[in-house]
Amino acid sequence: MTGQSKFRRYLVDINSTSTNQLFTDCLIIGAGIAGLRAAIEAANNCNIIIVAKYKLQDSNTFKAQGGIASVLNESDTFQSHINDTLKTGCGLCDEKIVDLVIHQGPELIEQLLSWGADFDMVDNHIATTIEGGHSHPRVAHAHGDKTGAIIVENLINKIKQSPNIKVIENFFAVDLLTNDSGDCLGIIGHNAAKGRQIIWAANTILATGGGGKLYRETTNPDVATADGIAMAYRAGAHLLDLEFMQFHPTTLYIAGASRALITETLRGEGAILRDKNGNDFMKKYHEDAELAPRDIVSRAILSQMLETDSTHVYLDIRHFDKKHFAKRFPVINELCENFDINISKEMIPVRPSAHYMIGGVKTDDTAKTNIKNLYACGEVASTGLHGANRLGSNSLLEGLVFGKIAGRYASKHKNADASHLKHPLIKYQTPHSDRTRLDSVDVTNSLRALMWRNVGITRKAKPLAEAQVIIKFWQRYVMDKVFDSLQGWQCQNMLTVCLLMAQAAQKRRESRGVHFRSDFPETDDKHFKKHIELIRR
Ligand code: SIN
Repeated sequence: MTGQSKFRRYLVDINSTSTNQLFTDCLIIGAGIAGLRAAIEAANNCNIIIVAKYKLQDSNTFKAQGGIASVLNESDTFQSHINDTLKTGCGLCDEKIVDLVIHQGPELIEQLLSWGADFDMVDNHIATTIEGGHSHPRVAHAHGDKTGAIIVENLINKIKQSPNIKVIENFFAVDLLTNDSGDCLGIIGHNAAKGRQIIWAANTILATGGGGKLYRETTNPDVATADGIAMAYRAGAHLLDLEFMQFHPTTLYIAGASRALITETLRGEGAILRDKNGNDFMKKYHEDAELAPRDIVSRAILSQMLETDSTHVYLDIRHFDKKHFAKRFPVINELCENFDINISKEMIPVRPSAHYMIGGVKTDDTAKTNIKNLYACGEVASTGLHGANRLGSNSLLEGLVFGKIAGRYASKHKNADASHLKHPLIKYQTPHSDRTRLDSVDVTNSLRALMWRNVGITRKAKPLAEAQVIIKFWQRYVMDKVFDSLQGWQCQNMLTVCLLMAQAAQKRRESRGVHFRSDFPETDDKHFKKHIELIRR
């Protein structure tokens, strides 16, 4: 499936002889849990460069509140975690991958603990809590709801101890470089301190995260603009399941405030969803009420908003012990204080928003993509763990496990093909078009609003088709430009991925997991118990 107007292999002109160059055995793009863990693993075997779009701390992982899911209690079993993951994935999980990730979890979490990650403990064991879809408490957390930040700081500390790892912050990876056979040779990007640079690498690991920012309403930080998926697609990587975007039911909804995540573990620990009239409504939609799977809670909230003619619903934690809450959920506590919400007296306004990209670059069980020398891990990858719906807190686990796997395999074969390091001359020139002056930030904002309206929580044929027409129109005058700024490249990446998402959502004429079609509300195993694969032709 193509449909991209005026497809360009690279977003910028390239002349490799006149561009500043760096060389490494293994290049890692992205610094969330997967990228950092990959770097630590690969550094056992070779030299690494890790590039981050902004600071090392600017990742989705850093913002993660709820935690990391794994079998950490004696009362829990691997089989139970596997069953919960498969059930949530609605028939599209890869059972081999589920088995692999879940079995490796406890050891890798214990390893983090041994490296100094300060998980919350009870009786000398890692404390766990519950989230929707889990049949046991198995979500580990750190400093209450600062789990992601604590894990990232721990991994950064570890990275600083390795002489083999060079970190470059404020580096925007524009495109993967490939040779005539399509093999990956590294990247061309923009280093804020040094300008345009090429990094030649024997192996490259994409760990760029997801694309929550493709939507107007999102829990994600600015970094999440799906750049990795777009550049992989341009380079010829196969993509899977882009229609599966997970929406988080509870995002703070205050006009003017950033749409901060209100962790699901709050509901796990007793928070109640109420509409604007104060009615608790979740039992009406699902027997597990507040702990029903996320897609069900998100749609229930939308229905209730419609029924009560409201822009949001509320999370009620007025019955929580205030002191315990401040300690257990310090991030949300501070957020509420900043907006003068007295949690003992008032409820927290929330609504659903885009949260996690389940689809991505197709990989195998060694994190390899179809492109030689290119690996992918974390949210940018589609490993098969999540199927059509992700079980809460399984993504940090996946990042940890597949980060390690990607690091191991991408460093193992560093000398396998020495000729690969005889870098070819790459010259690429695109016709420059100045036929319109463009405000790429305005295009980006319009695109995010369109995605929210037409490719959001509830989809149907006409709005999906309309979204494609509009995106293709915008592409006509955005994709022919050669930008020299992050905003411009991001806009081009977002247009590329949004079109693919709308196309995939149109193709899946059924409802499954996070993908709900009001015109095809049933799951149709006969025609759609399969992945939707997108390949640039
Ligand atoms: C949350 O804390 O609710 C988010 C956890 C996740 O998305 O895995």
